[in-house]
Amino acid sequence: MADGGIHAADPIHVLRRGVADLHDRVDRLSGFGAPSISSDAYRSLVAALASVVPAVEAAVIGSDDALVADVPPFAPLLLDDARRLGITPQPWAVTLDDAAQRWGARYVLAGSQLGAVVIARRLRDELPELPRAYFTAAATGAGERWAAFRSDARVAFADDELDVSAAVDAARDVFERLLAVLERSVCDPSTVGAGGGR
Ligand code: HEM
Repeated sequence: MADGGIHAADPIHVLRRGVADLHDRVDRLSGFGAPSISSDAYRSLVAALASVVPAVEAAVIGSDDALVADVPPFAPLLLDDARRLGITPQPWAVTLDDAAQRWGARYVLAGSQLGAVVIARRLRDELPELPRAYFTAAATGAGERWAAFRSDARVAFADDELDVSAAVDAARDVFERLLAVLERSVCDPSTVGAGGGR
C-alpha cells in the first residue's frame, strides 16, 4: 500500500463516469424523479435493494480487506422493511473475488446512501405511513460516511495493484442486477410479492 498519495485519476471520478449511464437508468425507472412518488415505485426500489444489498454487504464485510471491512450493515433494516412491505427479495449469489471488485461494489452501496438523503425526505413527506427504517438509517450521516469512503478509496487505489477498471466492472454488475429486479417489478408490481403497499 502506498502512503496515502493520490492517483492522477481519482478512483471515485473513474467509478462515477463508469456507472453514470446506469445511475441515470435507475433514476428514470425508480420513479423518484417524478414530482410525486407512488407506493409501488417505493416497493420496487426496496425490492431491488433487498435483492442485492445483503449479498454485496456480506461479500464486502466478510472479506479481510482492512479498509473495505468498515461498512455499516444495513441489510437487516432493508430486509425488515421488505418483509413489512410484503416484498419477497430475490437473493443474488455474487462473488467478489478480489479487493478491486469489493471496492467497486462498496462504491455502489456508499453512493446509494447519498441518494438515500433525498429519498428518505421524500418518503417522510409523501408516504409517511410506509416502513422506511433502511432509508432513514442510510441517510443519517451519509455525507460523513461518503467523505470517509472517498478518502479511503484514494488511499487504497494509490496502490498500483488495485485495478480501477475491475472496480468499475464490479460496480456495473451491481447496478445491472439492481436494474434487472427494478425493471421486472416496475413492469409487474406483483413480482415483488403480494400485499403490503397501498
Ligand atoms: C438502486 C438504487 C441506487 C443506487 C445503487 C445509487 C447509486 C448511487 C451512487 C453510486 C452515487 C454516487 C455518485 C458519485 O458521486 O460518485 C449516488 C449518488 C446520488 N444518487 Fe443514487 N443511487 C440509487 C438510487 C437513487 C435514486 C432513486 C435517486 C433519486 C432520488 C438517487 C439520487 C442520488 C443523488 C441525489 C446522489 C448524490 C449526488 C451528489 O450529491 O453529487 N439515487 N447514487
